[in-house]
Amino acid sequence: MWPDTRLCDLFGIEHPIVQAPMMGSCTPALASAVANAGGMGSLGCGEKSASTIEAEAQAIRARTNRPFNLNFFVIQPEETDPRVLEKTREKLQPWYEDLGLGEPPSELPAPGRGFDDERLDLVLALKPKVVSFHFGVPEARIIEALKTAGIVLVSSATNVAEARALEDAGMDAIIAQGWEAGGHRGSHVPTAPFDGVGTMALVPQIVDRVSVPVIAAGGIGDGRGIAAAFALGACGVQMGTAFLNCPEAATEPARRERLRRATDRDTMVTDAFSGRSARAMRSRYAQEMESSRTELPRFPQMYALSGPIREVADDDDASFFLYGQAAALTRELPAGDLIDQLVHEAQAAMRTLATR
Ligand SMILES: Cc1cc2nc3c(=O)[nH]c(=O)nc-3n(C[C@H](O)[C@H](O)[C@H](O)COP(=O)(O)O)c2cc1C
Repeated sequence: MWPDTRLCDLFGIEHPIVQAPMMGSCTPALASAVANAGGMGSLGCGEKSASTIEAEAQAIRARTNRPFNLNFFVIQPEETDPRVLEKTREKLQPWYEDLGLGEPPSELPAPGRGFDDERLDLVLALKPKVVSFHFGVPEARIIEALKTAGIVLVSSATNVAEARALEDAGMDAIIAQGWEAGGHRGSHVPTAPFDGVGTMALVPQIVDRVSVPVIAAGGIGDGRGIAAAFALGACGVQMGTAFLNCPEAATEPARRERLRRATDRDTMVTDAFSGRSARAMRSRYAQEMESSRTELPRFPQMYALSGPIREVADDDDASFFLYGQAAALTRELPAGDLIDQLVHEAQAAMRTLATR
């Protein structure tokens, strides 16, 4: 049924379509609907508490007995240089004034914790089929413990060197995340917002340089994109934006409306909300911050400074709505129906190419 079944075999799924983990947007209902339709459902765990992750994983298990994926960030707990904080506060002062928010915060929350021992123990207890990582290579002892427990490991790469580092570290598959992708770029070190390789160029170059299965991600919006990913040598796809308008997603109504009107030029890559480059809706805040670039507080500490602005400003001014360049292809369908349609479209596209 699929030209390459290595990913399906590795994950124990029927269709090589991974619903991307999307912190804040994916839900147990979304992940389980995708799993029940034969794809790989994912839950973004990011910086969620252990009790939330446990409850959400149990909620998936209550709805499906199929494999699913828990996703975590690989981040080092790094402090922001006080001078960077001061400069950023000065830069944001006019926004705070205009919005009647008083002074920008002078203290930052604790740095992000990443995948620490508490998370390791939790994952070993929950034992999902797959664990995926974003932003880097997990520590060797973590990889060893998870693999010994029989968990399949995947992580994102945004260039060939990152993909090779992931394979060397023992990842079972690699997500090749291209420039078109919605959400945070999974680069292993923070990169400037204008620095990225497109999916079309990235996937075959990674395929040529690693021996593990490659999952293409970024700008894949329908079955044509899935067929193209296979032509580039991938053996599966990870799609995020395509699922944002499913009823099971946690997307707010105003954002659903925005997706209905989406165009190819709606988004831009910005680090001005979180401290790390992410593709999100074009906004006045992101454009202004980009046109006068300065070093910003570390991810995820920058959220504390952009947060009050996001809360109060109009969406067009400062919404941190993460979505990708193929958003106009997004459909409003229950996730299981969307998987069925994507499978149908991809296979039709592959048949057409084979008979031409
Ligand atoms: C709303 C949103 C949130 C995301 N959050 C995460 C996340 O928590 N972890 C992660 O590994 N990837 C995250 N991503 C990136 C996806 O894994 C994937 O690379 C991307 O969605 C693929 O591009 P597409 O949106 O064009 O399909 C997110 C993407 C979106 C759109």
